[in-house]
Amino acid sequence: MAKSMFVCQSCGSQQRKWQGQCPDCGGWNSIVEENLEASAVRAAGKGKALLTSAITDVSSEKNARRSTLIEELDRVLGGGLVTGSAVLIGGDPGIGKSTLLLQAAARLAEQSGVGGSVLYITGEESMQQVNLRGERIGALHKQLQLAAACELESMLATIDKLRPDVVIIDSIQTTVSSRLSSAPGTVSQVRDCSAALIQQTKKIGHALILVGHVTKDGALAGPRVLEHMVDAVVYFEGDRGHAHRILRAVKNRFGPAGEIGVFEMTDAGLIGIRDASRLFLAERATDVPGSVVFACLEGTRPMLVEVQALIAPTVYATPKRSSVGVDSGRVAMLTAVLERRIGLPLSQHDVYINVAGGVRITEPAVDLAVLMAMISAYQEKPLNAHIALFGEVGLTGEVRPVGQPEARAREAVNLGFTHLLLPKENHERVQKANIIANMRGDKEMPLALMPVRHLSEAAQKL
Ligand code: TYD
Ligand code: MG
Repeated sequence: MAKSMFVCQSCGSQQRKWQGQCPDCGGWNSIVEENLEASAVRAAGKGKALLTSAITDVSSEKNARRSTLIEELDRVLGGGLVTGSAVLIGGDPGIGKSTLLLQAAARLAEQSGVGGSVLYITGEESMQQVNLRGERIGALHKQLQLAAACELESMLATIDKLRPDVVIIDSIQTTVSSRLSSAPGTVSQVRDCSAALIQQTKKIGHALILVGHVTKDGALAGPRVLEHMVDAVVYFEGDRGHAHRILRAVKNRFGPAGEIGVFEMTDAGLIGIRDASRLFLAERATDVPGSVVFACLEGTRPMLVEVQALIAPTVYATPKRSSVGVDSGRVAMLTAVLERRIGLPLSQHDVYINVAGGVRITEPAVDLAVLMAMISAYQEKPLNAHIALFGEVGLTGEVRPVGQPEARAREAVNLGFTHLLLPKENHERVQKANIIANMRGDKEMPLALMPVRHLSEAAQKL
């Protein structure tokens, strides 16, 4: 008798009966019947004793990095693709995962020496489609091997025979093991197929890149366990309405997490953008209320972005608070801080916050920027166009120091800003860095620092 279980597709919990709502994660309609009879990773037989080795004797040669020659991608990966590692690239459909990986595959193929190769297995498009795209974006190379397949067993056999340097599977959701009876993309298929592919990677020593889809609410389709199995998880973010895309490392065993890369989607594929600040500030209108420039730091990369606020009398019973690019819970908290500590009566006003250009800010250093944009919008007074700012704000309205203030200050100066509003406790460090701002042409001036201890001080500077 086949044994089956009802498995939640979003959290992986198992139930005996079908239910409309998962009792563990609370997700609706996420429970699907799965046959658990033939699990591909079911252990059998007695274990053998492991071969242990002193940590000092373990060679790290295997962890050699392979550059993709795409600077922005290398940075996110922590300096390149590590051999023997597995990387998961997630993102909405159509965001550019296949495009970027095909570009990277061609560059990697160029560098693989005699007899080396890169294997790109597509389960979503035909080989002709991939070839057409490759031709358009200039990603054709003899040592880039293409295969169209969905079946796990034949993939494993191909990799074993070809021994490529890099393997790209596009995507893990279309990969199926014939040994499992559940449908492609279900928890057990995704889990077992990736386990088998990763196991092979560690054994043979190539680098593996898996493409994964993201569900509507932003979680990776399939089990969270996939994120634990791989060495690095990279997400593609961005607004379909904008041409730029942000690649963000949310986990990386070989480099800093939180690192980002910025790309622009063009008709010749994705192009890395070094000077991201210029791009994000390109459409900024100066001297309008409700707009401030925030010096942020995502990963190790300083970047200037415009934070905008709009405050309008409400027509609803409960005023609206809406934000794009900043966490909405944080905006609600900051609104309350503004009401209590500065005394702005916002209970009859709608508050909208937007980070221009479709960037998503995850660090709390954005607080001061959001608050200053709100104050400026409420008072309809524009902030001086030469000021950039940063700082975390606590519930009492105190402005707290943030990490790497010097790097932020330098980026502000690079883009022509002459004044910096910053937390008092960051003042000394930035002052020591002795950063020169260029005041229109030849006259050199130090960057003017405006340290603040409390939100009310910052509000007065407006
Ligand atoms: P794709 O890489 O297929 O997305 P994913 O694999 O993440 O689903 O990206 C497809 C989108 O990118 C599609 O809307 C067309 C656009 N695109 C360009 O604008 N320029 C290009 O050179 C390519 C190849 C795609
Ligand atoms: Mg694709």
